[in-house]
Amino acid sequence: MWTLNLNASLAQVERMRSVLSPEEIKRASYFKFEHLQHNYIVSRASLRLLLSVYSNVGPEEIHLRLHRKGKPYLLNDSSLHFNISDSNGICAYAFSRDAELGIDIEKIRDLPDIDQLIEKNLTTKEKKYFQKDPGNKLSRFFQFWTMKESYLKAIGEGMRLTPENLEFSLDDGDIKLLSANGAYDPSDWQFKGLSLEDNFTGTLTYLGKDTLIRELSLDLEL
Ligand SMILES: CC(C)(COP(=O)(O)OP(=O)(O)OC[C@H]1O[C@@H](n2cnc3c(N)ncnc32)[C@H](O)[C@@H]1OP(=O)(O)O)[C@@H](O)C(=O)NCCC(=O)NCCS
Repeated sequence: MWTLNLNASLAQVERMRSVLSPEEIKRASYFKFEHLQHNYIVSRASLRLLLSVYSNVGPEEIHLRLHRKGKPYLLNDSSLHFNISDSNGICAYAFSRDAELGIDIEKIRDLPDIDQLIEKNLTTKEKKYFQKDPGNKLSRFFQFWTMKESYLKAIGEGMRLTPENLEFSLDDGDIKLLSANGAYDPSDWQFKGLSLEDNFTGTLTYLGKDTLIRELSLDLEL
């Protein structure tokens, strides 16, 4: 997996725009604020560059398509799995050969309605973690949020399962999916809490045991 700070110079944004497809250029233009347009261009162009390295074709020849519920996949090479997530100017990319995956990162930020969000999205068992550690409410909430979101992104089902239907445990940093939609999930999904820069948290969900995960960072030379 790779992380990238999306901050780029104007010249870099223009160079990166040139590797995007006409649809992506159109989508970039829909963002109201310029910095969000730039973030999208840099994250998409970097995705194309990374995919082109892993699949050995030119970045402009990367053909992306969407599954039924919106999960992107690579038409050229469907055994190369990937997923991306961005939050507050940081983008995270996960790639795997043959194993499905999902990634989610979040900046830990103030949420005025934190108590309602905990109430609505977490199960009774999950809420117990907050009683043990009330001082870390926000970071704990975002941790659980990224566990749920990365799992939903891995299975690619969008909103079919709602967060309160998933139940996770988090003991000594070890993340486990206890049940999905009320039923014990018998699948081989694994979870890894990500080490990201301060005030960010994230989870990678992937299939397969004993997987070696390399956490790398990509730098744009400004
Ligand atoms: C669509 C969804 C996956 C986007 O998540 P997000 O946190 O807003 O945004 P992220 O930056 O993490 O991810 C966005 C990327 O995920 C990918 N994505 C979109 N739909 C996806 C899907 N169904 N499955 C997997 N990945 C998807 C795309 O690459 C997208 O980036 P792009 O639009 O630039 O191509 C999300 O809104 C969703 O459906 N979530 C599930 C429901 C939920 O309630 N989650 C709360 C958990 S507590």
